[in-house]
Amino acid sequence: MSLVKWIDFPSLADSRGSLVAVEMGQDKAVPFGIKRVYYIYHTEQGVSRGYHAHKQLKQVAICLAGKCRMVLDDGTDREEAWLDRPTKGLVIGDMVWREMHDFSKDCVLLVLASEHYDESDYIRDYETFQKMARKTV
Ligand code: TYD
Repeated sequence: MSLVKWIDFPSLADSRGSLVAVEMGQDKAVPFGIKRVYYIYHTEQGVSRGYHAHKQLKQVAICLAGKCRMVLDDGTDREEAWLDRPTKGLVIGDMVWREMHDFSKDCVLLVLASEHYDESDYIRDYETFQKMARKTV
């Protein structure tokens, strides 16, 4: 099964421009209750972010402007996806290692999260993550 799972948000476009509504629990919607929203922007050129997984947290990432490349890794397989349009939400499950690379200067990455911020939910060491993901610890 692919690690890359998209939600395609319908764009309500008319002569004035476009609008996307993000909802929970509907078809084409975020598959969890949203407790937190944050966004990443003004990322310096050449900088990569992420390099962690979460034990419980589920997220949906939507690139509102510009683009970036997301790498997802479940401890066995590694896949990548370009986030480059505001109508595509990338669903990132728990126990998925993520890295974000190649941010364009204008990139604004919105992240919807299932839980409040909790540093103890982070796994920031790749080898530890891989062992946990493969259930060897
Ligand atoms: P971090 O999760 O390391 O960012 P990234 O995954 O983009 O590399 O977070 C960067 C800093 O911001 C870190 O000190 C934790 C803090 N932070 C919060 O206080 N609240 C939040 O919701 C998030 C996501 C991060």
